[in-house]
Amino acid sequence: MSTNTAPSTPPSTANNAQAKIPNRTLLVVNGPNLNLLGKREPEIYGHTTLEDIEANLKQKAAAHDVRLIFVQSNHEGELVERIQHYGLLAEPEQLVDAVIINPAAFTHTSVALRDALAATKKPFIEVHLSNIHQREPFRQHSYFSDLAVGVICGCGHLGYEMALDYWLTHLYTV
Ligand code: DQA
Repeated sequence: MSTNTAPSTPPSTANNAQAKIPNRTLLVVNGPNLNLLGKREPEIYGHTTLEDIEANLKQKAAAHDVRLIFVQSNHEGELVERIQHYGLLAEPEQLVDAVIINPAAFTHTSVALRDALAATKKPFIEVHLSNIHQREPFRQHSYFSDLAVGVICGCGHLGYEMALDYWLTHLYTV
């Protein structure tokens, strides 16, 4: 996975200097129990809270004029509905351009969440704090990885920043 931090470059407007380049928006989705980060098995998931992760991402994205929408839920149906909304059903100006998602335990169980993402056709990066391939066998299958643009796992909270770096570099080509 690229960690290139080159600033996001809007497409050239050389042929149309007045062209309005829309700001870009990313949806950052976190699944069940990730609200407990910092308290939850810190030897596996680290000491950084979800609030800290979101604040870091927000600061970095703002410097590139990219807007972030954060969703965390412990409920599969709610995650499905939020993904449907921001990916497909909202007014065009409220739709996101791409997604960063840590589906947490739903990684290994949720066809519904996979189908919701697929329905939006929004490109996404799958993130896991832990290296799921070093863990129990049931964590080694993901319902998302074959649809993802990329998968980052085992890099702790930095994985989210790596995913954001990717989108800051590639957002204007999606
Ligand atoms: C996780 C890995 C999943 O297996 C687990 O259920 C989680 C978190 C991670 O970020 O490492 O809740 O997605």
